[in-house]
This record gives sequence, C-alpha cells and structure tokens, in this order.
Amino acid sequence: MVATAQSAELILAPNADVETPALVVSEEILHANIARMAAFARSTGVGLRPHIKTHKTPKIARLQLAAGAIGITCAKVGEAEVMVREAGVQDVLIAYPTVGASKYERLVALMDHARIIQAVDSLAAAKLISHTMTKFDAHMDVAIEVNTGQNRSGVPYGKDTIELAKEIVRLPNLHLVGIMTHEGQANSAPPDEIEGIAMTAGRNMVETAGAIRAEGIDLPMVSVGSSPAAFYTPRVEGVTEMRPGTYVFNDNSALRYGQFAVGDMAARFVATVVSRPAEDRAVLDTGSKSLAMDPSKAHPGHGYIVGHPEAVIVKLSEEHGVVELPAGEDDFNVGDRVEVIPNHICPTVNLMDELFIVRDGHIVDAWPIAARGKVR
Ligand SMILES: Cc1ncc(COP(=O)(O)O)c(C=O)c1O
Repeated sequence: MVATAQSAELILAPNADVETPALVVSEEILHANIARMAAFARSTGVGLRPHIKTHKTPKIARLQLAAGAIGITCAKVGEAEVMVREAGVQDVLIAYPTVGASKYERLVALMDHARIIQAVDSLAAAKLISHTMTKFDAHMDVAIEVNTGQNRSGVPYGKDTIELAKEIVRLPNLHLVGIMTHEGQANSAPPDEIEGIAMTAGRNMVETAGAIRAEGIDLPMVSVGSSPAAFYTPRVEGVTEMRPGTYVFNDNSALRYGQFAVGDMAARFVATVVSRPAEDRAVLDTGSKSLAMDPSKAHPGHGYIVGHPEAVIVKLSEEHGVVELPAGEDDFNVGDRVEVIPNHICPTVNLMDELFIVRDGHIVDAWPIAARGKVR
C-alpha cells in the first residue's frame, strides 16, 4: 500500500509490485532530463560529455549518446572499462587525476577500443603518463585540470596552467588537447549566485586557453561541467564542451537551485514502513547501506519523502531510516510505502546492484548498475 497522502508527484502506482528498498527510475522523467540537456547543448553549439558517475549504468550511457552526447566523462579507470566494453562508448574523458602505472597500462589496453583523454594537474603525473606511453609505444591525449574556485584538485587558472601546458607539450607521447574544470563551487552557493560563479569560471577558462594558444600551442578543448551551472557556463563564448552528471536524475540537493521541481526527479528510493514505534516516529527499511549519508541544504534530514514535506528522516543506521513525524500524522502505518528523493543520488546509486525502470506507474525492467563499486 502506498502512503495515503498520495501525491501526483509519486512515480509508482498504488498497486505497483516492488520489493523494497529499491531504487526506481521514471523512464519518462529520465528521457525528459536527457533530452532537455541535449537540446540545450545543441542550442549553444557546445558538445555534451555527460559524467556517468551519477548513473554508472551502460544502458543510460547509450541513451545519452543516442541523444547526441559526443562522449562521456568518468572519474575512474574501472568506470571507463565498463562503459567502453558494455556501452560501446568511443570517447572518454577521465576527469580525475589518475596516478599509478598499472592504471595507465589498463588505459593503454582500453585505447584499442576508444579514444581516452586523461586529466592531469601536475608535471609529476604528466611525466608518469609520458613514461608509460613511451614504454608501450602509445600516445595519450591529456587535458589540464584547472581550478576555477572549487579548490579541490586542479592547477590555478592563468599563469600556473599556462606554465604546465608549456612543460607538457615538451614530453614525449603526450598530446595536450585542452583544459577542463569542474565549477563545483556552484553546488553549495546561494541559488542567486550560481550564474555569476559559472560565468566567471567560464571566462577564466576561455582566457587561460587563449593565453596558451598565444604560446603557439594548439588547444581545441575548453571543458566545463557541473549540473547547477550547466545552463550558464557553456554560454561563455569559447567553451567547447560541458560535462554535467547529476542532471540525468536530479536529486534533493538540486531542488534548492530553483531550476527543478519534484517532477524533474527521475530517481526515487522506494521504502516500506517497517515499524511505527511511536506517534511521532516511523522506521523505513532503508538505512545507510542503501541511502547515501550526504546532507542537503534543500531539506533537513536524509532525503525528501515525496508528499510529506514535514516528515524528516532524522537518523540512518545500517538498515533503519528513522523518520520524525509531525503531530497528527495518520500515514506511515506499517506496510505503507514511500518514495524518497535522495539527498545525493550519485553515491546512492553506487550502493545498488540494479535500478528498476518505471513506466506508467509500474516496473517494466531492471538495469544493472554495472559500474557500481568501480573505484579503481
Ligand atoms: C570533474 C567533474 N566533472 C563533472 C561533474 C558533474 O557535476 P554534477 O554532479 O554537478 O553534474 C563532476 C561531479 O562531481 C566532476 O567531479
């Protein structure tokens, strides 16, 4: 039985047959999200290279390519291996500072099937790649990862990036093709500051690329990427590609940007009320082994329960999700089912073996999340 306060925002029909906890995905919303971003990329003339860390699912990568994506982005070599072998992807950017000779040997093997572009943010890493490529008589495309304000990995934009570019082009068996940034500082910014942050990051990238070209270095690619900034940064003239990831599903964190509503959230965690130990407390069958623990600025607790904005998932133990209920709450009886929008969908997907596709309120398919756990 579905919680009685039914909402038009639920994607499962009351009589849908689903064993919980389960990650379910609305086919209709998934297709709409993919089509919207593909249309935007087309309208700006920027290539779309979605980050697959959000879905880790070969069938979804294929949908993104069919909608016009020029390739994909991965963080880890293991993700790229799955996507090349199972989704037939032919162009992959590894947007992560990969370190380790054995990982580059795996990439050399993958390069028989796909073009690989590797991100680098240090001369040490570039030398390691150059050394491994020379050993295997191979050549690798690389892109410098630039820090435009997220302050994670990446070389500061401007002078430091230009200097690294000049060093990299001297190394054998490397081909510098571009620069890339993740303007992830937009994720935690107040919604009315996202556009400004995105445009500044985009302009700093384009200026840096121009300065590198002025050194006589050919640099075709200027790549940006983040879902909250996705509709802004690519508008900066000179940006050539975009790499949003979360847009494919959206999540509770995306609700606060003001660009999306619950009806744009393709992925839901379906859970059953397994205990109602007190008037003001219910327990769901989803804990930290199925719902990632990340906080969200959009809503208190560990996810948004669709149709129940005042119910808060205050605590997750491994298999228990403890929900604090408002006074007089009649729903949340043992056996009731709820749909939870996870705070952060990407690590939640990584906890599951498969996702269930929902069409017209019912599960019609199960797709393996084949790259889950591929962290090496
Ligand atoms: C390097 C890189 N590019 C692109 C993205 C996609 O950003 P988002 O998750 O906001 O869509 C991420 C996300 O973590 C990232 O790390």
